[in-house]
Order: sequence, then C-alpha cells, then structure tokens
Amino acid sequence: MAVPPSLALSDGVRVPQLLFGVGGLTASETGRAVRIALDTGYRGIDTSPGTEEALGAVLAASDVPREEVFVSVKMPVQGYDATRRAADQVLAGLQAERVDLVLVDGTNGAFTDTWRALSRMRGDGRARAIGVAGFSAAELRRLIDSTGTVPALNLVELHPWLQQLPLREFHDAHGILTGASSPAANGALLSNETVTALAAKYGKTPAQIVLRWHLQNGTVAVAASATTTRTRENFGVFDFELADDDLAVLSELDNGTRVGPS
Ligand SMILES: NC(=O)c1ccc[n+]([C@@H]2O[C@H](COP(=O)([O-])OP(=O)(O)OC[C@H]3O[C@@H](n4cnc5c(N)ncnc54)[C@H](OP(=O)(O)O)[C@@H]3O)[C@@H](O)[C@H]2O)c1
Repeated sequence: MAVPPSLALSDGVRVPQLLFGVGGLTASETGRAVRIALDTGYRGIDTSPGTEEALGAVLAASDVPREEVFVSVKMPVQGYDATRRAADQVLAGLQAERVDLVLVDGTNGAFTDTWRALSRMRGDGRARAIGVAGFSAAELRRLIDSTGTVPALNLVELHPWLQQLPLREFHDAHGILTGASSPAANGALLSNETVTALAAKYGKTPAQIVLRWHLQNGTVAVAASATTTRTRENFGVFDFELADDDLAVLSELDNGTRVGPS
C-alpha cells in the first residue's frame, strides 16, 4: 500500500499531503467513508464539526494504530471560553487525549480569542499543532501581530483555477503550510479540457491529475468523496509525476474562479 508523502507542520509534527475530508457528510456517512479511506491507505482525516464522534468510533474499532492516523479538527470562531468547552467535546467525541491539528475555522468575530484558546490547548498538550482556515494575508497578519504566534497551516480554497499565489507567498515567508480545500473546485475542474487532455496523456483520471498537481505544488490537499471507487481513485496519485511543462500548463488555468464562500 502506498504511503502518502508528508510535510513538516511544526516542531516534529508531520501532516500527510493527502487528507481525506468528511465535510458535508452525515455522521453515518462519515463512519462508512472513513472506514473505506483507512482501508485504502489514507492516514490523515480532516473532520468538520459534528463528525468527530463518528470518526472516534471508527478509529477505536480499526486495526490501524491510532497514532498512525493524523486528525485535523475545526473550531468555529466563538471566543475563548466557548472554544475551551467545544474542545472538551471534540476530544471526547474522538475518544482522544489530544488531536494532531486544530484550526480556527473562519474569521468572523473575535478570532484572536479563539486562537488563544487553541494556543492554550497546544500548551496543555491537547493539540500537537494549531492553524487556521479561510484566512487572508491581512487576517493572518492581524493574528500574528496581536498574538505573537504563527499558525502552522492555513486551509483555504485552492485549485488550478484559484491558485492563491499572493497568499502562498505570505505563507512561505512565515513558514505557514498551505492546505487546499476543494482541491478539484468541488468537482467542477474535472471536466476542464486541459485537465482531461492531461488525464489521457498520463493514462490517469482527471481527479488524479489535479491531486498530483497539488502534491507537486507542496500543498496539503483535502480530497473528499462519498463514493468508494472515487475514494480509491483519489489515492492513486503516488505512482506517477507530472512533467514541469504539464505543471506549467495547469498553472496557466488560474482565473480566480471560486466555488466556496469567499
Ligand atoms: N472552511 C473549511 O475548512 C473548508 C471549506 C471547504 C471544504 N473543506 C474541506 O475540504 C473537503 C473537500 O472539499 P470539496 O468537497 O469541495 O472537494 P473537491 O475534491 O474539490 O470536490 C469534491 C466533489 O468532487 C467529487 N469527486 C471527488 N472525487 C472525484 C473523482 N475521483 N471523480 C469525480 N468526482 C469526484 C465529489 O463527489 P462524490 O462525493 O459523489 O464522489 C464531490 O462532489 C471537504 O470535505 C471539507 O472537509 C473545508
């Protein structure tokens, strides 16, 4: 079984470059989808609020050792005390003493207070690394200036149509890893003719071409599918490489198309 490459997140913590995302799935769908993902070889799961209990149950019952599975969770912006209480619930749901990565999800409201609760979680050993989701460079700057700490990762919508180059420059300058949510523009990119032509050239599927582009671009891609065959297909990206000129062709697709909320 292929082992996905990983990137250094912070202080010895490594994150697999291909995470399985369960956003949008119900609790029962999450259980089934995660079982299939673990059997396929995924060793990183990106949860969304409400899916932690289902994931915790699958991990508890799985033959895969718990320490081999990287788990990332999201906290909606809700302030210091509420985040501390929510963290207790998330860890209880996961049946875990600590989680690998906790993200402040979104920037509406007092996100610096939420961030302080996450910093405390890390200080207490309940989170190995902490990061954010959906932050612009200006919001990252505000967070860093007001708290003196730098998020380990920023999870944003990113794909060949929306490459977020200025934001990525900011990330690189501050040692922040880039997480790519909606790596295939919620599936819309998979019928793009540049992508389908490359799929034919490499004997791969459009989804594999796009995910391979992410791997070679140094992002952490959150691939999501509720379908068993596609979950397996999306993991088949470690046995080929896109040539530099084909990476460049995909990079030319950048046109600012956004499929999620800005
Ligand atoms: N704020 C945040 O943190 C945030 C925001 C947005 C998303 N996310 C995370 O990112 C994850 C991915 O987002 P996304 O769902 O937009 O990802 P995506 O990979 O861009 O698109 C997924 C869509 O493509 C389809 N698909 C997946 N693999 C396919 C394949 N091999 N062939 C054809 N179609 C395929 C899926 O349908 P089927 O399910 O039918 O296969 C689904 O409709 C979510 O699970 C969520 O956890 C996080």
